[in-house]
Amino acid sequence: MTDVYSNTDADNFPGARERTRPGSAPGEIHDTVVDVNGKRVSNKPANSAILAGQKARLEREERQRAKAAQPKTTKPQAQSSSSILPKLFLLAIFIPLLSHFFTGTWDFEMGPTVRYHVRKVWTHPANPFAPELQKFTAVQLSRYDGTDPKLPIYLSIGGEIYDVSANPRMYGKGGAYNMMAGRDASRAFITGCFQTHLTHDLRGLSEQELKGITSWQTFFDKNEKYFKIGKAILPPIDRNSPIPPPCNVQGGDEAPAHHKKGGKKPTK
Ligand code: HEM
Repeated sequence: MTDVYSNTDADNFPGARERTRPGSAPGEIHDTVVDVNGKRVSNKPANSAILAGQKARLEREERQRAKAAQPKTTKPQAQSSSSILPKLFLLAIFIPLLSHFFTGTWDFEMGPTVRYHVRKVWTHPANPFAPELQKFTAVQLSRYDGTDPKLPIYLSIGGEIYDVSANPRMYGKGGAYNMMAGRDASRAFITGCFQTHLTHDLRGLSEQELKGITSWQTFFDKNEKYFKIGKAILPPIDRNSPIPPPCNVQGGDEAPAHHKKGGKKPTK
């Protein structure tokens, strides 16, 4: 049967050009295929676009499903961190340069404060990499009394050793409190007898006075210039030796020479 495309009967005259719809020409034989919905359909040319579209959609959905099901690999992370690293590197160069331009220092003049906080965090007992506290005998400690400018200055109080090198004016050679450096002069910290009580012998001191040791330790712990570096192994006190007698100073204080004119005692 011919299938003529025509709107009017006038067009249907004998000999008029007969056209067939694609796939409906007599003699055209087509296989059937199963479409994505499981239906058996002819694979005639007219269906090919629909079938191809269905197939493409199916493939796309499958790809998406496979991607979603894939376990997350570390590759994207590695990519992102490798892209961050150069930026961090540039920042690490740029910030000090900026600081040098404005302040003439490389760290916005925050050196001591930053160093203090870095050191406090680094030496915190919770840090597994924190350097172990060193142990010093009294003889070893005596090397760090400020005499050698190449060595740090240490002092011990209650057996805890602090690095006080940041304040050579006070603890260095010729400093007002130089006599406290390179030793454990805990007794003098309490009694103020800076000549005769330069010892860790605390016998005879009251409970209240002994609390002063802890508050001095807190002073050194909290002070942003100082930090704890170790512990002192001090010789035991001979029980039979006489207790150091009180020094003959007013109010128990014997302030170092340059303090005698007066001045504000630091808050501990
Ligand atoms: C038990 C008696 C005393 C002890 C153990 C003692 C100890 C100390 C210590 C260890 C420092 C240094 C603090 C630091 O590292 O920053 C210091 C500073 C100072 N002390 Fe004393 N002191 C005593 C008595 C006095 C007295 C009686 C005066 C005043 C007449 C005085 C005036 C000062 C002043 C003004 C400073 C600060 C100096 C500065 O920063 O330039 N102290 N004292």
